[in-house]
Amino acid sequence: MDWFAWDFDHPAYFDIYADKAADAGREGPALAALLDLPAGSRVLDLPCGWGRLHPHLAARGLAVAGGDLSPLNLRRHALEHPAPLARLDLRALPFRTGSADGVFCAFTSWGYFATAAENLAQLREFARVLRPGGVLLLDLVGRSSLERATARLRSRWRDYPDRGYRERVRWSPDRRRIWTERQCQGAAFRHDIWIPTDAEVRACLAEAGFRPPAASGGLDGQPWSEDSERWIYRAVTR
Ligand SMILES: C[S@@+](CC[C@H](N)C(=O)[O-])C[C@H]1O[C@@H](n2cnc3c(N)ncnc32)[C@H](O)[C@@H]1O
Repeated sequence: MDWFAWDFDHPAYFDIYADKAADAGREGPALAALLDLPAGSRVLDLPCGWGRLHPHLAARGLAVAGGDLSPLNLRRHALEHPAPLARLDLRALPFRTGSADGVFCAFTSWGYFATAAENLAQLREFARVLRPGGVLLLDLVGRSSLERATARLRSRWRDYPDRGYRERVRWSPDRRRIWTERQCQGAAFRHDIWIPTDAEVRACLAEAGFRPPAASGGLDGQPWSEDSERWIYRAVTR
């Protein structure tokens, strides 16, 4: 089984990422503002997870539909934030070409696939379902800040007793991917995510059919810098 089909569809995911529910109150309004689409726009939240950011998109009058691979996340989304939802794979979206005004991709939800072709396919699908002039908001962790943070961790296991898990974060030997191993609720997980450079993000967006993106270095829309903790790209289709 692919790691992303297992890690995100286990109840432990909600414990490990419990703080992200509270973060949504800060992240949602800011990211929705950076998406910067008028009320009434058709926006796809991909992947939507359990919908923690959905209320903040809806609050701007956007017509939001969500999609995700995880049935567990989709069930929670339907209970907590009812909305049109689809179970899907990011590499082949079940939406019509040119049918959306915006795609909202938050919380480093790109780079999960093992090959460059598959990761590019995700962006190509985003471009395909957007109308010409449609907007993608791609919210990624900044590579350089992650390198600094992981250097401090020194690849050691750390315990988080309050949330009942332990974790070890390492780079793959070629330093292109970050491996986050976790043990929680008697199960083992391993995120395996490609962390691109800014040049790689821009090259992939161009290849997928987007114009050169604007980039912010944080939720307040501050200017992008190599050292920013978040790299938030707003890209418009050609
Ligand atoms: C880090 S979460 C982010 C969710 C949401 N954007 C947020 O900010 O809360 C990543 C999500 O990607 C979903 N996912 C992982 N691989 C996927 C795939 N191949 N197709 C669709 N969704 C996928 C997971 O199920 C999970 O809900």
